[in-house]
Amino acid sequence: MIKPKVVITRRWPKAVEAALVEDFDVTFNKRDRALTADELKDAVHFADAVLPTVTDRIDARVLDDANPRTKILANYGVGYSHIDIDSARTHGITVTNTPDVLSECTADLTLTLMLMAARRASEGEREVKTGAWSGWRPTHLLGSKVSGKTLGIIGFGRIGQEVAKRAHHGFGMRVLAFNRSPIAQDVLIKTGAESVASIDELLQQADFVSLHCPGGAANKHLIDCRRLGLMRESAFLINTARGEVVDERALVQALTFETIGGAGLDVFNGEPDVLPELRACENAVLLPHLGSATLETREAMGFRVVQNLKDFFEGRAPRDLVA
Ligand code: DGY
Repeated sequence: MIKPKVVITRRWPKAVEAALVEDFDVTFNKRDRALTADELKDAVHFADAVLPTVTDRIDARVLDDANPRTKILANYGVGYSHIDIDSARTHGITVTNTPDVLSECTADLTLTLMLMAARRASEGEREVKTGAWSGWRPTHLLGSKVSGKTLGIIGFGRIGQEVAKRAHHGFGMRVLAFNRSPIAQDVLIKTGAESVASIDELLQQADFVSLHCPGGAANKHLIDCRRLGLMRESAFLINTARGEVVDERALVQALTFETIGGAGLDVFNGEPDVLPELRACENAVLLPHLGSATLETREAMGFRVVQNLKDFFEGRAPRDLVA
């Protein structure tokens, strides 16, 4: 049987790459750098399936210019705002993602950022590593307590719920949750969360605000200058969702003038470029998009893509259908 031609746009964990070649004729990206728009067009033009990630912008122009042979974009990742879903539909291209398997690790990283930002861990590490630490003293690098505080979660899907469980059951936090669609009562009970009616209400009450909504045009600058102004002076903004959800220039202002306590960010608009002004903020902890970065999770994401592909090419509906 002829194996479907598949282009994988970045290096994946070895075990998954090995599994892919069993059933597919795979073109790898051995150099592991992001493909250019022209390279993406070529991939969509000649392959039966393309397996993109967050670093591949597959917009209408890429798909229109490519005259696609591709029938499925099997995305490696849960977020897919880098793919123009309407255009994929127009071209009759199926799109899948990899939900569930990264929720726990992304939630773990969210808690990491909350703790790092509140307890000034990056500032402390910089002191130790540069030899600038002058010793223990009662007023040194005083941070904010995390246990028992109020956490506001915007976007109460799988990842938001995992964050709530950790914060409530692990750190005794009061958890407020906002979601576009109503949150089921059993979910609120399991996660120890209370539902709030609006984002503005949540921002005014929370000591930590954590974003877990999708990216894309609908949520662009959801956290803007006005909403940052609603946050408490001591509150922290945590973003492990997508960079575009936050107006980064407004955030720089809030951090610089200390109208909020600090931020913990794992995602950025235009990453891997990060605003120099943001990089200069001492009260911001910045990580390079590590939410799902554990071997276990990255393998699980890859195997989920393999399963989606097999389902598709063997005539079954893929489990993680997005479009
Ligand atoms: C995801 O799965 O959405 C991660 O952010 C990587 O794209």
